[in-house]
Amino acid sequence: MNITTEQMRFWSPEVRELEPYTPGEQPKIQNLLKLNTNENPYPPSPKVVEAVQNVLANGADVLRLYPDPDASELKHAIAKQQSVPVEQVFVGNGSDEVLAHIFKAFFVQELPLLYPDITYSFYPVYSQFFGVETKVLPLNDDFEIVVDDYKQPNGGIIITNPNAPTSIALGLSAIEEVLQANPNSVVVIDEAYVDFGAESAVALVEKYDNLVVCQTMSKSRSLAGLRVGFAIAQPHLIAALEAVKNSFNSYPMDRFAIAAAVASFEDQAYFEAQNAKVIASREKLTTQLKELRFKVLPSAANFIFASFPSKDAGELASELREHGIIVRYFNKPRINQFLRITIGTDEQNQRLIDTLKNEILI
Ligand SMILES: Cc1ncc(COP(=O)(O)O)c(C=O)c1O
Repeated sequence: MNITTEQMRFWSPEVRELEPYTPGEQPKIQNLLKLNTNENPYPPSPKVVEAVQNVLANGADVLRLYPDPDASELKHAIAKQQSVPVEQVFVGNGSDEVLAHIFKAFFVQELPLLYPDITYSFYPVYSQFFGVETKVLPLNDDFEIVVDDYKQPNGGIIITNPNAPTSIALGLSAIEEVLQANPNSVVVIDEAYVDFGAESAVALVEKYDNLVVCQTMSKSRSLAGLRVGFAIAQPHLIAALEAVKNSFNSYPMDRFAIAAAVASFEDQAYFEAQNAKVIASREKLTTQLKELRFKVLPSAANFIFASFPSKDAGELASELREHGIIVRYFNKPRINQFLRITIGTDEQNQRLIDTLKNEILI
């Protein structure tokens, strides 16, 4: 929709300047293979489905009442699964909301927030939204973080691990080096994809009073549709997040989301089996793409970041789309010759390979 300058006079001046995040599209095309938003190709555990149905087991009257503003049952389930005290858990409506509260709670400082040039594209959006000063630090030529760059004055640091969209994981020793070099600023590790192969920094929370680890149930737990994210940190940091949350929306977690998330944590076996399948499919797809001469970065996530030597990545994405396959293309410096491809089931990945081999790269 085109809004005229005259219509815009109603908008707050700040809102006129916003450059919002563009989510991956959710098109309604028949026989579509959707490999563009890093959703899990498998449904959540049957126990999750049962728990969602049980919310209404005694009728819809329960929907008349607000949910628990503290989502305490969910916090306890997360604390148990992550082996941390419940006082170290914060929950939100997807990790995007948790991240928003993190930006507001910690990063509105005089010194700039540090993050890599290639990272989750919501960070610049939140920075603008909350008026956070930023300093963007380039990854090296292999798309890895240069730890020494994070040893300069700053008002906070945020690192995605494994990184998105590069899929590359950073070791815990590097994260510890960053934490030790920055005792006076908050270091946030966004672990949206950690369950697919990286080491979690939750193990460091007890040791570092400046660490916040953020995770989501959207990817490894197949709950993108319910919006559940959480952060783990020492209680003095959780208190700041609670203060922000209760100044914005006191009831971010609805009854269905709470019930489903709790049930998901109760079925660890399903979670582990499902992740193992995604990881095995990722390795198989990587090998197949390399056989087709793609360059594929080493992935610790549920997606891969790949480029083809003799075809423009934007064109490749458009041609795949014509064949009903959607992948994510970022028309941005340094990465505009790469495609981010979500790992599907083996059958879905095979359709991608067959389409590339028989229809596009001939
Ligand atoms: C790095 C990263 N962080 C956070 C999120 C947000 O996840 P959600 O809001 O679904 O929990 C995403 C989603 O794609 C992501 O890629």
